[in-house]
Amino acid sequence: MTDLHTHILYGVDDGSESLEMSLEMLKMASDNGTHHLVLTPHCNVPDGYMNYMNSTIIGRYERIRQEVEKRHIDIEVYLGMEVYASDDVDELIKAEEIIPINRTRYLLIEFAFEEDPMWVSYILEKVQRTGLTPLLAHPERYIFVQNFPYMVHDWIRSGCLMQVNRGSIVGRFGQAVEETVHFLLERGLVHAVASDGHRPYARTPILNDAYDCIADYYGQMTADRLCRINPRRILTNQRVISSSRHSGYHPY
Ligand SMILES: [Fe+2]
Repeated sequence: MTDLHTHILYGVDDGSESLEMSLEMLKMASDNGTHHLVLTPHCNVPDGYMNYMNSTIIGRYERIRQEVEKRHIDIEVYLGMEVYASDDVDELIKAEEIIPINRTRYLLIEFAFEEDPMWVSYILEKVQRTGLTPLLAHPERYIFVQNFPYMVHDWIRSGCLMQVNRGSIVGRFGQAVEETVHFLLERGLVHAVASDGHRPYARTPILNDAYDCIADYYGQMTADRLCRINPRRILTNQRVISSSRHSGYHPY
C-alpha cells in the first residue's frame, strides 16, 4: 500500500520526536503492508509549524532514507507537506516555499476545522490556478463538511481530490466523523485513504485495518483503489481512477 499523509519527519511538528521514533514508525508501516510512504510535515500553520522548504527538512529526509536502507526496512520514503490553507497559498507555491507530494501536481492541503466552506472553495480554486491539483486532507473531520457534505461533490467536480483518514474509517475520531466518512465512501467521493500517522502508539502509521474495513463494506476493488492504486498514481503524478458511482461527474 501507499501512504500519502504522515507526520514521520522527526522534530518539525506534532508527529515523530526523534530519528529513532521515525524508524520505529516506518518499520511498523512496513510490517503492516505499507511499502511507499510520504513524509508530510505540517506547514504554513499560523503561530505554529511554518516548515517552509528548508535545509533541515531536506537533511532529515535524507537521514531517514539512509537509515531505512541501512536497517533494511522494506519501505520507500518520499517528501511532501501538509499545507495549512492561507490567503497567500498561491504565492507560496510559486515561490516554492511549499511543495506538492513528491513534487507532483498534487498538493496536500488542510483547513481549520470550522472554516467557512465558501472560503475553502475560494482557496481550492486559487491552488488550481497555479496548475496544481488540491488533495484535501481528511474532509470528514471538518465541521463544515459534516454540516454540508454535498460541498465535497462540487469540489470534486471542479477537479479536487479527497483523502480520508484511516482513523476515521476505523472509528477513532467519533461518530460524526465516522458517519461523514461513510457518507463520502458510499457516494464514491473519496480518492485515497492515508494514515495521517503521528506516533508509534497512537494515530499510528498503518492502513491495513482501514483496508479490511473498506473491503468488508465496499468490496476489495474499492479497498485496492483507495489504499493501493490511487495513492500510487498520485505519488507518480498520474491521473486517479474514480469510483464508477461518481465517474459521471469527475473530470478524470
Ligand atoms: Fe496531518
